[in-house]
Amino acid sequence: MTIPTPTSEGLAGLAGAVPAGLPDEVTLARLAGEFFAALPTGFGGASALSLPNAPRAPAPEIIPPGNVGPTLTAAAPVAPVRAESVPIDHASAAGRPGAPALGVPEAYAAALPTFSPPVSPPPLAPSTPYYFLGEAGAFQSAPQQAAHAAPRAENRTAAQSFGLPGEAELHSILAELAGERRTASVPGSSAASPYYFLDTHNVPKPEADLPATPSAAHPAFDVHAVRRDFPILQERVNGRQLIWFDNAATTHKPQAVIDRLAYFYQHENSNIHRAAHELAARATDAYEGARNKVARFLGAASSEEIIFVRGTTEGINLIAKTWGWQNVGEGDEIIVSNLEHHANIVPWQQLAAAKGAKLKVIPVDDTGQVRLDEYRKLLSDRTKIVSVTQVSNALGTVVPVKEIVDLAHRAGAVAVVDGAQSVSHMRVNVQDIDADFFVFSGHKIFGPTGIGVVYGKRHILEDMPPWQGGGNMIADVTFEKTVYHGAPTRFEAGTGNIADALGLGAALDYVERIGMENIARYEHDLLVYATRGLLTVPGLKLIGTARDKASVLSFVLDGYRPEEVGKALNEEGIAVRSGHHCAQPILRRFGQEATVRPSLAFYNTCEEVDTLVAVLHRLARGKGRIGR
Ligand code: ALA
Repeated sequence: MTIPTPTSEGLAGLAGAVPAGLPDEVTLARLAGEFFAALPTGFGGASALSLPNAPRAPAPEIIPPGNVGPTLTAAAPVAPVRAESVPIDHASAAGRPGAPALGVPEAYAAALPTFSPPVSPPPLAPSTPYYFLGEAGAFQSAPQQAAHAAPRAENRTAAQSFGLPGEAELHSILAELAGERRTASVPGSSAASPYYFLDTHNVPKPEADLPATPSAAHPAFDVHAVRRDFPILQERVNGRQLIWFDNAATTHKPQAVIDRLAYFYQHENSNIHRAAHELAARATDAYEGARNKVARFLGAASSEEIIFVRGTTEGINLIAKTWGWQNVGEGDEIIVSNLEHHANIVPWQQLAAAKGAKLKVIPVDDTGQVRLDEYRKLLSDRTKIVSVTQVSNALGTVVPVKEIVDLAHRAGAVAVVDGAQSVSHMRVNVQDIDADFFVFSGHKIFGPTGIGVVYGKRHILEDMPPWQGGGNMIADVTFEKTVYHGAPTRFEAGTGNIADALGLGAALDYVERIGMENIARYEHDLLVYATRGLLTVPGLKLIGTARDKASVLSFVLDGYRPEEVGKALNEEGIAVRSGHHCAQPILRRFGQEATVRPSLAFYNTCEEVDTLVAVLHRLARGKGRIGR
């Protein structure tokens, strides 16, 4: 039997030639019409959700997921290995003497000195089995030089080495600011600190001038070793060494994450769950292994409580459009705080508008901390959802989410915590917080963009309808009925971001090797150091002075618009965000439309802070273009 090739006459040309036993063109068209007409409005996820009054699809039968990864196991320890640095010869890389590096603009390349990024990891042992059932798998992290490696004494930067008493110091500085703002021309406490400076050349370096930290105080943290794990920190911008103070917008990726992505595409690339072939098995195991890592990192009870999404924004939308659509009705109330990022405002506004619900806002005090007394008054038996950030992206306020969740539960509401700005700075345990949902983005914790996580308590996820329908999330489909998988697969329609989930897993491995407690301690001291430095700049006003802060130093500078400051800093190779930070309500609460926002990570140093402060001093003196 021969089926004719389609011609320019299209299917019509085939009508008379359809082999016996197959439906003819007219029948096909009729069947297609009946199929589309038969699709219920509320079939599956999104269509039902966008039509709040549409009849709900019959509750799907829940099939326990058969393809969820292995239960949590302890990660295999990774032996620290110090990689050697080798210089890269840009000229020979381009294939001719004196030529610029490939892909680098000629004029710019001429100014580039040779630099020495960490060398690529050695090839994996060929005997390594690629197929694996656990998350350890074939992939081995690249040798890292981070804090787990033996620290070099001259590079040690330990918690007490700034000469500051720590927590109490930050509290007292911030309390002082909150009570009575100092005028910058009279820097109140600067005399007491040897690290207030107007010129970086005169800044005593903490490591050199302070007595060594007693080893019992904290394990040493070798920031210079950490920095060697991040190739991009060697980048030059406007002829200067890059200083990356835009960590609240996104963080850089250690070599281990970059290598993990490459390894996936070199050895494992396949779709997951669907095919019974070797690469599908590798990809599936690696993906579910990453889910296990996230579960362990967050302290979740099970990996089935972890849904992969694109990021925090998609995660909050998922919750609003599933649990929210299912449970919020007319007259119900949703509570957010004044601190929220637009991603934790707009989805709830949309839900409230569609359902006739009310959005209520917890106010903040003049330091930028949420007012729990006012929050208590907002709670009622109509409160269905409370959704708050754990750390403000605009001010850095650390919000007492555990207390907020507890109060929400007492009112019978579910509690959502936006962890986009917290997970990279502090240990998070979702069971301790008792959040019903917790959301974060991979790219803010040294992982790739385009991958994020929704944690949801299992019993809640199991009662939630899907939000997107399609492949992967179903157990069985007929034209009459679809049976969905259980959580988390039910919420992961279509092909997910497999490679970047693995990259996120590698990022979590990386920060765990350094230790979240070490990271938090180092960053806290760096925040104290930077706060004190910024307060020496005449005309600089910090926006956000809550007692508990993490990573962020929002400010405005007299005589300059925030974007002018951002531009001047960029000329010096310093990256900060200037603008409204997708958090307009909280900036307006402080009378601002925009701020300059340096934000710190554990690879930043006191020297980088010194440079920032020196540039700001020169700006404040009105000197215009500045060199350093
Ligand atoms: N949410 C990110 C920020 O705060 C983009 O910059």
